[in-house]
Amino acid sequence: MGFSGPGSVVLAPLFLLALLTGLCSGGSDAPRGVAVGFVFDLKAQCDPPCAHGGVCIRNNSCFCSKGYEGESCQYANCSPKCKNGGECLRPGKCRCPPGFGGRFCHKVTCDGGCWNGGECTAVNGEAKCICTSSWTGSTCQHAICPQGCRNGGTCVAPGTCSCPEGWLGGACHTAVCSRSCLNGGKCISPNKCRCRPSFSGPRCEEREKSH
Ligand SMILES: *[C@@H]1O[C@H](CO)[C@@H](O)[C@H](O)[C@H]1NC(C)=O
Repeated sequence: MGFSGPGSVVLAPLFLLALLTGLCSGGSDAPRGVAVGFVFDLKAQCDPPCAHGGVCIRNNSCFCSKGYEGESCQYANCSPKCKNGGECLRPGKCRCPPGFGGRFCHKVTCDGGCWNGGECTAVNGEAKCICTSSWTGSTCQHAICPQGCRNGGTCVAPGTCSCPEGWLGGACHTAVCSRSCLNGGKCISPNKCRCRPSFSGPRCEEREKSH
């Protein structure tokens, strides 16, 4: 077949388009390589112009390059689609919202990670650490002491308080008197005894005189 003459200019792109679209194998009786019924208007005008290498084949009708779609080929096409609200920037390239990553924004990423067995999970479109029962905090960094830590103690591991000086016990609830309280007195805060009736003194060592 001849590509000479005035028709060649039209036929060359037609041939190319036919190959691209696979129109020829679409059940047409025409010989392969010749597009039939495919109107390609060289004078066609597309407004807005076809973007991303798209070709204007009819008035306001674009033939888009691979990976683009939309009336003027303005949208990139990501396959698989961008997940979790990601935006398709260019073919196969997603821009992910905060908290998501991976090629298709399919991976949840928690800022700072999830510690102590916590799991990063999407909750209502937001990446969040789901902590195990003994831990809390945005990255599961805080241990939980169900018994509480009193008297200025801090929970340093599940169920374990670190107590300030002068206090002991699982919840830092036991005061320490470096010298024990005498005569049934009770250590009620660091180095402070509460004495039984008729006793007094720092260690309850003195018997009060009866009147
Ligand atoms: C395409 O648009 C141009 C300009 O508006 C017009 O002159 C032409 O006739 C149109 N072509 C077709 C096939 O409608």
